[in-house]
Amino acid sequence: PVRPVLPADIKARKGAAPLVCLTAYTTPVARLVDPHCDIALVGDSLGMVLHGLPSTIGVTMEMMIFHGRAVVRGLQKAMPVIDMPFGSYEEGREQAFRNAARLMAETGAPAVKLEGGQHMAETIAFLTARGVPVMAHVGLTPQAVNTLGGYKVVGREAEADRVMADARAVQDAGAFSVVLEKVPEGLAGRITQALDIPTIGIGAGVKCDGQILVVDDMLGLFTEFRPKFVKRYANLGQMADQAIADYAAEVRARTFPAAEHAFPDVLPAKGAKS
Ligand code: KIV
Ligand code: NA
Repeated sequence: PVRPVLPADIKARKGAAPLVCLTAYTTPVARLVDPHCDIALVGDSLGMVLHGLPSTIGVTMEMMIFHGRAVVRGLQKAMPVIDMPFGSYEEGREQAFRNAARLMAETGAPAVKLEGGQHMAETIAFLTARGVPVMAHVGLTPQAVNTLGGYKVVGREAEADRVMADARAVQDAGAFSVVLEKVPEGLAGRITQALDIPTIGIGAGVKCDGQILVVDDMLGLFTEFRPKFVKRYANLGQMADQAIADYAAEVRARTFPAAEHAFPDVLPAKGAKS
């Protein structure tokens, strides 16, 4: 039997082999991710990737629970982490605990992720003291797109000290790991050296303790836009477009279905091949 990865295992991997992480939002993709990855993140990116929303702002607790349950069913080894959606934790630590506990209880995932540095430290400490392992997320925090003014690099020049302070604050509050999103590579390296918990980079260079990508981005399934940090390992979107075009052409030409896909009116004699 495979032992599932737990938050304490992730924390203990600091300085060891790089942590491999991808998002997953459905059971079949979770099954594909599971044998290869340490963490399967049910990211609120699902709002844009699966539901056509313009940002992650409109993602709800119900959406996270619905997809979280599907992903947990598809995993045996990799650890599921569920993103806390915008509006479910910022009001205060009690609200954050209530919603984190609901995400864990209703999905079975052993950890949640939330966005924010120094201003979320008190909440992270409150959650971890009460049995909620927290993955933090600093640098570019997409739920703050409307105050940040876009999806720009965070932490160049004068901003670097603040991002370092954010990373230290979430570690000191008890986070078991921290995502660094769209942070300059030198700064991400210095943060990784300074912290005792693993850093997981997305657009943060090769010096982080682990990497994460949105699975639909790296598979070429989500092509509305492509950030510079995404490497496409496959072009499944193009393959699907070709497959659907072939199907449409065959239906119109009445070459699909063929006899082998249909059911004869009279069953073949027993012993004969069906
Ligand atoms: O929502 C998401 O997919 C994320 C990762 C990209 C870190 O937060
Ligand atoms: Na997210």
